[in-house]
Amino acid sequence: MSQRELAEYTHTPLGTIKTRVRMGLEKKEAKAMKKHLAAFLFIVLPLVGCGRQPERDVALLPACTAATAISLVQTPAAPPTPAASPTPAASQPPTPTPGPAPQVDQVGFPAGYQEEFKLLFVVDRPDNKQVRVICGNDVAAGAEPGRPLPYGSVFVMEIWRPRLDPAGALALDEHGRLIREQLVNLFVMRKGEGFGEAYQQQRTGEWEYVAYKPDGSYSTPPERSNSCATCHVRESSATVDWLFRMDLFFNPDESATPRPPGTNEVIAFHYRFAPQTLTVQAGATVTWLNRDEVWYTVTSDNGAFDSGTLQPGESFSYTFATPGVFAYSSSMQPGMKGIVEVTE
Ligand code: HEC
Repeated sequence: MSQRELAEYTHTPLGTIKTRVRMGLEKKEAKAMKKHLAAFLFIVLPLVGCGRQPERDVALLPACTAATAISLVQTPAAPPTPAASPTPAASQPPTPTPGPAPQVDQVGFPAGYQEEFKLLFVVDRPDNKQVRVICGNDVAAGAEPGRPLPYGSVFVMEIWRPRLDPAGALALDEHGRLIREQLVNLFVMRKGEGFGEAYQQQRTGEWEYVAYKPDGSYSTPPERSNSCATCHVRESSATVDWLFRMDLFFNPDESATPRPPGTNEVIAFHYRFAPQTLTVQAGATVTWLNRDEVWYTVTSDNGAFDSGTLQPGESFSYTFATPGVFAYSSSMQPGMKGIVEVTE
């Protein structure tokens, strides 16, 4: 598989976003800027005794709405929202008692985020049929990579339902990306001094979570947001201030570029296994490498092998002694599937 095919395969929008990020900067200017930046970093900063990286210039980042230029073919008009008619309780599935959570909304519906927030990343989730557009306010988008985010940081993650073809499969645009069709939810997290204490065991630093519908009503109100904290506390860590995609936000060159798999190697990246079908001879050892920032597993459908949790950067190997077709998936993202074909 060539680098290009792989890039298309993994649907990495980085080139596009990066070009936009550098909006208005000609290559030459960018080079000159880099030189100045280097001089600043290596000469000026040590002189003033400050080794910290400068904050990036958020003014250069595209607005959140720039995401519409990437694969958003058509947005059907949002269906009219019925005037606050409360859903009858009887039609709701019984919900388990939510874990401890804040009782008041300190996050706040981010009105105007489309223009005011900066676009950070668009991630296709073929595994759970979603497209996620992640934007941050200026405080978040201008934060220093690898350091805790400043108070007042807000991230919005738009959850889109992608278009399906008549057979119910995911429709793809000419770049092989999912096509956003309907904006369903806005997942929002805000950091504030002393925030998050109410989550108790599931506390993720000083972040609080709320999910809104695009019209501003609640999808996951603060009182039920323990579910958000639970997953973030389990699968992220304090070293990245409980974010999942810190590398992508701040270091897109490295963390959005898929690496071509080597011989008998499968790369887990952006909710796909690449190559999706690998053919090897009996006796071969296959290695799966998690090149992403999120956790995966390599779990055979028939129980032949199971990697357990593969954290970012970890790998797992298995030797296929006998011919056959071995289907597997990631047990954390069951829609993420792959196949190893073992020949004589
Ligand atoms: C099952 C685990 C899980 C749950 C539950 C969950 N998240 Fe996340 N969240 C993720 C992952 C994984 C990402 C990174 C984006 C991706 O790869 O899909 C993420 C990313 C985010 C981001 C973007 C910033 C970042 O961390 O990269 C926000 C904002 C967010 N989640 C808010 C919420 C809110 C609000 C809720 C509850 C309504 C919630 N999340 C529930 C797993 C989860």
